[in-house]
Amino acid sequence: MTQMKPLNLRGFLIYKSFISAAHQAVILDDIRAGLPQAPMFSPVTAWGKPMSVQMSSAGKYGWYSDRRGYRYEPKHPNGNNWPAIPRSVLDVWNSVSETERQPDCCLINHYREKARMGLHQDNDEQDFAFPVVSISLGDDALFRIGGSDRKDKTESVWLSSGDVVVMGGEARLAYHGVDRIRLGTSNLLKNAGRINLTLRVVD
Ligand code: SIN
Ligand code: MN
Repeated sequence: MTQMKPLNLRGFLIYKSFISAAHQAVILDDIRAGLPQAPMFSPVTAWGKPMSVQMSSAGKYGWYSDRRGYRYEPKHPNGNNWPAIPRSVLDVWNSVSETERQPDCCLINHYREKARMGLHQDNDEQDFAFPVVSISLGDDALFRIGGSDRKDKTESVWLSSGDVVVMGGEARLAYHGVDRIRLGTSNLLKNAGRINLTLRVVD
């Protein structure tokens, strides 16, 4: 992993090209290895609207959403435990998180062509002193960054395969989202698209 001074965008620390192509491929294989146990599913929002991303998780908890709302669940909807967070992914957390504490959840978001993620805060966790670490794999994504109030001005930055974003400090409760994916900008995934991993300390 290439440790350079990150770009600081309103407290979002953006490490461009942090993960080597070889390590990205290892992470992808490790994440795929967990999918038979915890397959991707399409969550619905609390308002019953299907989300455009496909989701799964690894770790002690998986992030889950349905009409009962957003929460962490100790089991996949199929009743299985979530697979362990791969060592290859924990290595990234340990390089940038500046804490000894290990994450409880690795949320896996798969974006196909038209998928996006509306502006939101990550606030289902107990302790906001721990950062959220995001790993981008595959096609480029236009990542939107705001402030801690939904009405705050936003700005956007392209995230590419191997980029890592640390949302901590003032950025921990900042609104963020993904406006669109630029298809075919990476050849990491056999079928175009993007996988984003977010690592979180939950309880
Ligand atoms: C998320 O906020 O959960 C995902 C962010 C991303 O896909 O880059
Ligand atoms: Mn988020």
